[in-house]
Amino acid sequence: MVYLTRVEHFNAAHKLYNPNWSKEKNEEVFEGCANENWHGHNFDLYVTVKGEIDPETGFVMNLKDLSKLVKQHVLTKVDHKNLNLDVDFMQGKMASAEVLISEIWKLIIPHLPVGVQLHSLKLYETHKSFVEYFG
Ligand code: NI
Repeated sequence: MVYLTRVEHFNAAHKLYNPNWSKEKNEEVFEGCANENWHGHNFDLYVTVKGEIDPETGFVMNLKDLSKLVKQHVLTKVDHKNLNLDVDFMQGKMASAEVLISEIWKLIIPHLPVGVQLHSLKLYETHKSFVEYFG
């Protein structure tokens, strides 16, 4: 079994805000991320798949296809978008990196070729903080 990773990049705006809480509590818990008029992040998404080596190509999966898949099914939906307002699969959810990564997982899974499994996703929200998800 070999693990193969592709990194893709996108920018998106968001706000972390729980409507059931007071403004003060939101600011206390979410700090800058509760800013009323949004703020942006430069996200790096690490997509790791695993599988056996295809003897004809020497690949687990063609990286070009993996990149295309992530662009088509994830980046077109989130890049240069407001996660709270513009992104259908984030509607009614907290726009945290944790929620986002678990939703991105569901977008990728159905499009992988037979014999290739999604192993993990890693999503950097800043260079100091990232989340990982294994399904
Ligand atoms: Ni933020």
